Amino acid sequence: MKLQQLKTQLKQQFKLSNVDVCDVDFIIAESLNVSRTNLVFVDEISENQHKKIMRAVSLRLNKMPVDKIFKKAYFCGLNFKVNKSVLSPRQDSEVLVGKAAEIINKKQLKTMLDLCTGSGCLAVAINKRTNIKTTATDVSARAIKIAKQNAQTNMAKVNFVLSDMFKNIHQKFDLIVSNPPYIPTKDIALLDDEVKNFDPMKALDGGLDGLKFYKIIAQNAKSHLNKNGYVLLEIGFNQQQQVKQIFSDYTFIECVKDLGGNDRVMVFKI
Ligand SMILES: C[S@@+](CC[C@H](N)C(=O)[O-])C[C@H]1O[C@@H](n2cnc3c(N)ncnc32)[C@H](O)[C@@H]1O
Repeated sequence: MKLQQLKTQLKQQFKLSNVDVCDVDFIIAESLNVSRTNLVFVDEISENQHKKIMRAVSLRLNKMPVDKIFKKAYFCGLNFKVNKSVLSPRQDSEVLVGKAAEIINKKQLKTMLDLCTGSGCLAVAINKRTNIKTTATDVSARAIKIAKQNAQTNMAKVNFVLSDMFKNIHQKFDLIVSNPPYIPTKDIALLDDEVKNFDPMKALDGGLDGLKFYKIIAQNAKSHLNKNGYVLLEIGFNQQQQVKQIFSDYTFIECVKDLGGNDRVMVFKI
């Protein structure tokens, strides 16, 4: 079959089904194991290749995100394995990595804790950029297993600890980062199918007001931070004021916006 013909058909089908048409190229490239730029050199595809593409197309039309279909995601220029046990890394979270690296380098910070690590994307990306001594935790043993694999494949040095927030953490750090679950429980049903059906509930549910984990972090971070320690938090686009209030015992440094112009990362200091 001619690839161009299939591509045109699929783009129409995706448009009609309200699925991002850009995913067609991604699916074809991943299924054929060629880069998207090299797709232009592919003319004919075999029956087997066609079957492989159509299997992924069917999953995508059932709203499974492409990174969950191919079990991989790109974050900060690195490859991450993902599955149903971990949140797919979001591009918006790259802002936190950039800000953390800036502070670590400027202030010569030596140790970092990543709470709620999931796929390990923040811990791994920050560790790769700065070499900071890194510990990362999650309450999900399945997430920790994936995060360990991601640290290994990206050659990052991260000490992973299975822990309900700070419970199994007995040291102090120069920096604590976290992208905790922050969706209010009642809003989960309103999320896109791609999110609510394919990201783990544990990664989304921030309790009644969505702020449960920020309150835990505010209560406990002080006793786990060295003098002049920093806290960097990813937040929902409308949570800046509430999180500022929760961290009123800390010094607010700044709120950094993501690429879409939304409030995304809050920086506090003790
Ligand atoms: C929003 S995801 C963030 C994952 C990753 N840090 C990222 O930025 O893509 C939140 C993570 O918090 C974890 N989590 C939920 N409750 C937790 C708890 N009580 N203690 C530690 N981690 C928890 C979930 O398993 C999930 O991996």
